[in-house]
Amino acid sequence: MAPATPLCRPVVRLLLVLLTALIAACGPARPGAGASPGARLYAVNCSGCHGAVGTGVRGMQPPLAGTPVPNGEPDVLLAWVMFGRRPAVLPRGIYAGVMPQFAFLTDADLAALLSWVRASFGNHAEPVTPQMVAAARLAHPRS
Ligand code: HEC
Repeated sequence: MAPATPLCRPVVRLLLVLLTALIAACGPARPGAGASPGARLYAVNCSGCHGAVGTGVRGMQPPLAGTPVPNGEPDVLLAWVMFGRRPAVLPRGIYAGVMPQFAFLTDADLAALLSWVRASFGNHAEPVTPQMVAAARLAHPRS
């Protein structure tokens, strides 16, 4: 095999650096990068099903824009999102999807996430505080 020319190594190194930069630039953006904590948490935990702008998927997942539970009583919303305790206004059988439970998120994260949902997508509901989340944890223990 012919020995590599002196020029070969720096050129290969340069190509590797360029390739790495290209892969980094083309990789998927971090969901919600640069956004508020609530928006980031929504992007990671909820947007896959409810959509980036809360429109849902017909027959599968309800919209979070203008719907009753995200805009209603914080405790009813928390009981649903944390423990899957079904609200009276959300009858079984309308949506084919199944929603996971999010009690694993911290009080601060749930408060930030749900406050963001309640102030986004055209919603105008009062914020959810970490104290409300802590109270819901005690009131609706995991079944
Ligand atoms: C795997 C899909 C999925 C994910 C992820 C998900 N949901 Fe849901 N969500 C659903 C489905 C399906 C329903 C309707 C369930 C039913 O009626 O049985 C629902 C219903 C809801 C409702 C009631 C809406 C109404 O009509 O009033 C709220 C509020 C809600 N989800 C919030 C959230 C939040 C907040 C997150 C993220 C922390 C989240 N969901 C993540 C699938 C999902």
